[in-house]
Amino acid sequence: MNISVFLGAPGSGKGTQAKRLAEANGFKHFSTGDMLRAAMSEGTETGKKAKMFVDRGDYVPDDVMIQLIQDALSPLPASSKIILDGFPRTLPQAEALDKNAKTKVSKAIFFDMPQSLLVERLTGRRTCSKCGEPFHVKFHPPKKANVCDKCGNPLIQRKDDAEDVVTRRLDVYNNQTAPLIEFYKKTKKLSQIDANTDVDTVYEQLLKQLSK
Ligand code: AP5
Ligand code: MG
Repeated sequence: MNISVFLGAPGSGKGTQAKRLAEANGFKHFSTGDMLRAAMSEGTETGKKAKMFVDRGDYVPDDVMIQLIQDALSPLPASSKIILDGFPRTLPQAEALDKNAKTKVSKAIFFDMPQSLLVERLTGRRTCSKCGEPFHVKFHPPKKANVCDKCGNPLIQRKDDAEDVVTRRLDVYNNQTAPLIEFYKKTKKLSQIDANTDVDTVYEQLLKQLSK
């Protein structure tokens, strides 16, 4: 498999870019955050295990996450082009991927973004309740207030985009996920892009890195 990992703080634009790449370039996009939110709204066993952690901005335990991603990847053919958005987020998760020859990571793309700007991106985000398309009240407003441009369903604010939970998520990211930058640097898989620019420019940088 050709697996590219999107690494970056909450709000750095991973989901926005991954959705666009999947639509335009035939990548399969797996967002573990979206998968958990779907599991929580369906009330599955995984959703029940995850809810308390997600709602307060903490990470869901590694064993639950590793199982979730293994179940998603194992049925796919070896020729698949995959984007993992939000996985791995810890060293044990990264090691679990590399342990299996089929799911070895090809590239890790780090979305570099000053932390001071992330709170505004996250607290202003609105997400489609049906298709998950992300909008922003200031940076990417929908054509009609609170309605998804793509599918016409209502937009919602994620519970974990409340300011106090955002602060917690950023702390957890700095403690548990930032070390993965070094991990992928050491294995020569890391590329860095400037995520503090407009969506089109970030996308151009991504295409360049993915074609290398
Ligand atoms: P998850 O849903 O993955 O959240 P996250 O990593 O915190 O990332 P976000 O989705 O908040 O940000 P993003 O980078 O996708 O930004 P987006 O494109 O939306 O995870 C949620 C929770 O699930 C975690 O807290 C944890 O509890 C759990 N979880 C998930 N995976 C896990 C794992 N592997 N292990 C353990 N627990 C796990 O953009 C943000 C906003 O900015 C949007 O409004 C967008 O419109 C706007 N925007 C995007 N790009 C730009 C730009 N270039 N300029 C201006 N605005 C922009
Ligand atoms: Mg996201």
